[in-house]
Amino acid sequence: MKILHRGAEAILYLENNVLIKERISKSYRHKFIDNAKTKYPTRKEFKLLTKAAQFINVPKVLEIDEENKKVKMEYLKGDVLKNTLDNYPKRKKIAELIGEQTAIMHDNDIIHSDLTTSNMILKDNKVYFIDFGLGYISKKIEDRAVDLHLLKQALESKHYKHHKELYESFLKGYKKSKNYQKVLTQLEQVEKRGRYKRKSS
Ligand SMILES: Nc1ncnc2c1ncn2[C@@H]1O[C@H](COP(=O)(O)OP(=O)(O)OP(=O)(O)O)[C@@H](O)[C@H]1O
Ligand SMILES: [Mg+2]
Repeated sequence: MKILHRGAEAILYLENNVLIKERISKSYRHKFIDNAKTKYPTRKEFKLLTKAAQFINVPKVLEIDEENKKVKMEYLKGDVLKNTLDNYPKRKKIAELIGEQTAIMHDNDIIHSDLTTSNMILKDNKVYFIDFGLGYISKKIEDRAVDLHLLKQALESKHYKHHKELYESFLKGYKKSKNYQKVLTQLEQVEKRGRYKRKSS
């Protein structure tokens, strides 16, 4: 067993080349709260990965073990974009791919809710989205706008050297969405309210 990552709620490890994301229960939490942090996101991640796989690049989901709060999925041997995006000469092209993937995801009513380059892996010149535990299904323009707002904030904080060109390139890709204009108009409203703040991951 090789541990890849320890997050606030989950530990990720490799077993026979399969990635296991296991959400860890905490005994000091009330069962109700604990399930909200472990069981439900595990179920959601499995469902959304299965749905998203029909439309966009995501790791192949293999199995859910609800009892033990585990999701098994394909291990993507690639680069987490948070660490590498700034250094690629082709970073604008990659940001455009992020925009395209987001457009397709939104046009199929999937809201990610944690769109940041920590949750994107580049492999074989393709951008994969991971970490769907906070995601949900929605047809609302507002929800799409909040996803964009979070991504824009992530670019500003994690990729501040290039955030302007990266966001422009992202929008170039996102133009493929059938709701592009509406979402951008709604994004202005979201930014005026300024109440959605990214968590620091
Ligand atoms: N399918 C995968 N293939 C390769 N690496 C992965 C995969 N899924 C996750 N990882 C790696 O594990 C890290 C954490 O995964 P994920 O974002 O799903 O968990 P998390 O609980 O959100 O962690 P955190 O709380 O730190 O954000 C990713 O940033 C990535 O480095
Ligand atoms: Mg994550």
